[in-house]
Amino acid sequence: MDTIIFRIKRFDGTKEWYQEYTFKYEKKKTVLWALIKIKEEIDPTLNFTSACRSAICGSCGVRVNGNAVLACKTSLDEMLEIYGTTKLTLEPLANYKVIRDLVVDWEPKFERMKEVKPWLIADESKADDKGFCQSEKEFNKISNPTDCILCGCCVSECTQHTTNEKGFYEPFIFTKSYRYTADSRDKDKGGHLLPTLKKGGLWKCVRCMQCVTKCPKGVKPGEHISFLRQESMQMGYKENKGARHAYAFFNDIHNTGRLNEMTLPIRTEGLLNTIGRIPFALRLLRKGKINPLHIQKPIKSIDGVRRVFKLAGKEAK
Ligand code: SF4
Ligand code: SF4
Ligand code: FES
Repeated sequence: MDTIIFRIKRFDGTKEWYQEYTFKYEKKKTVLWALIKIKEEIDPTLNFTSACRSAICGSCGVRVNGNAVLACKTSLDEMLEIYGTTKLTLEPLANYKVIRDLVVDWEPKFERMKEVKPWLIADESKADDKGFCQSEKEFNKISNPTDCILCGCCVSECTQHTTNEKGFYEPFIFTKSYRYTADSRDKDKGGHLLPTLKKGGLWKCVRCMQCVTKCPKGVKPGEHISFLRQESMQMGYKENKGARHAYAFFNDIHNTGRLNEMTLPIRTEGLLNTIGRIPFALRLLRKGKINPLHIQKPIKSIDGVRRVFKLAGKEAK
């Protein structure tokens, strides 16, 4: 292979178009190397952001063939092999307002992030003459989220953002909230966590785990969301649809080993809200998908299921 083609989505502030750049292929280079090459040798008008070239600053997130990557950490050889082509399409991160070409607007996201107070609110009573010491176990809890470099790849591929769920926080905001909620030195759990519940759509995450698989730093926003949900229930926030749904699942599986689809909507949404679903329930009935007369009995291996619950409970402590 002598040459490769980058098909880049351009935007000049008013109109969008795709522009192709053909250049000499070199082995062992990154996507960012190619972008810099284009800018320096072919087209100085191309806009993109980058700084460290070491996967630290988080500024070079772009989409390659519809998947968000960190340009400086992504091998060109790998991309060409994965997609089996010599032509790659580059676009700005999705779910961001585009400013120019591959440059996106971070300002509104950073403003929103401030709502979870992404800074330590120190509990002075936990300090001694050595400072705020943490045990290894305490540090391990916050070690994963501290790797977040705010590159935005998780936002770009988040299902809830792509389906335009208004008000849903960006995955990295949940990670920031978790980072300080779980920090043993912090004294304002509620200050970090409650905005995710009251404004950020904590229970609206559909657990597609795109944020986990696409994160170039191995950060796990999807898991941090699970922690925040549990923590919110422990803080007493159980009277919302999400928490009721989780309890209904928990109780069904614990009691019988099976989900009771007949009563699940009522226990999740309440009787009044479920009335609107009667036509749907009738259709299910007609198709034989549900049977209101069926009384659910525990499955044969229910003792094993309960042992799993017990072990999981111990593990979580
Ligand atoms: S969680 Fe990962 S993908 Fe999301 S902003 Fe942080 S580093 Fe980037
Ligand atoms: S798991 Fe939740 S936060 Fe992560 S990408 Fe999917 S919907 Fe978004
Ligand atoms: S240039 Fe800094 S993360 Fe890629």
